[in-house]
Amino acid sequence: MPATEAASAQKDHGAQPFIRASNVGKIYGSVEDGVTALEDINVDIDRGEFVLVVGPSGCGKSTFMRILAGLDHATSGHLSMGGERITGPRQDVGVVFQSAVLFPWRTVLENVLLPIDIQKRGRDKNMERVRGLLDLVGLADFENRYPAELSGGMQQRVGIVRSLAHDPAILLMDEPFGALDAMTRDHMNIELQRLWAANHKTILFITHSIPEAVFLADRVVVMTPRPGRIAEIMKIDLPRDRTLDMMSSPEFGEYVRRIRAHFGSTGALD
Ligand SMILES: Nc1ncnc2c1ncn2[C@@H]1O[C@H](COP(=O)(O)OP(=O)(O)OP(=O)(O)O)[C@@H](O)[C@H]1O
Ligand SMILES: [Mg+2]
Repeated sequence: MPATEAASAQKDHGAQPFIRASNVGKIYGSVEDGVTALEDINVDIDRGEFVLVVGPSGCGKSTFMRILAGLDHATSGHLSMGGERITGPRQDVGVVFQSAVLFPWRTVLENVLLPIDIQKRGRDKNMERVRGLLDLVGLADFENRYPAELSGGMQQRVGIVRSLAHDPAILLMDEPFGALDAMTRDHMNIELQRLWAANHKTILFITHSIPEAVFLADRVVVMTPRPGRIAEIMKIDLPRDRTLDMMSSPEFGEYVRRIRAHFGSTGALD
């Protein structure tokens, strides 16, 4: 894929964008015999944008997310957030992993309040907002339950609310719904879209599912197999709010087909 095409859906920014990745590369181990996980990643993300990343297993998606969260560092290039270079973990980032990793001895509400406790932001000041978030994802009546009493989808919703509890500027989600069944996953995507519309958070969401990417995204970053490079950044011009019905429209199918075309005749991402 020519670099010009990869850059075609990039924004033309007069001012600095919210997130900027410039020539980001990552080699695990030594330069001579290490594993190149990422190469030459260039992407700008605006505040409030919903960006999906798709690519085959091992192409460096999680690596990119960890670097963005300040949990790992790039071996070349640099990343900035709000004009500041990312050099370590930040408090204004929320992270959601594939499994929710809740504390079994804490109730739903206590799990959700964890970042507020850790960052000493004060429970009282944040309680109304946190309860509003629980309500938004249908968990208002479950705040005193324990994780073991919840379904997988409900636990993942607790994880999402927890990642938003400290009101971060950006939400990083690494295959958050990968372990859920198809129906629950559709439902979670609708809820996430609603949450995004209500909160205007910037979201970077990693997935193996091309339809999920098209359904949620303002733009989809399509990655190549290892070493991960950007094959294309595709703007998704489907109206909001998106509905499940839209997934059977010709326009939707055309986006899916264009992304799938990057992954060979089998169309497989893994
Ligand atoms: N801590 C590490 N040490 C060495 N190599 C690593 C490490 N973490 C990841 N890698 C390698 O870097 C490459 C990218 O890994 P990464 O986890 O970012 O891929 P991914 O796109 O998230 O894959 P998946 O879709 O399977 O989650 C892989 O080849 C992996 O083996
Ligand atoms: Mg991963």
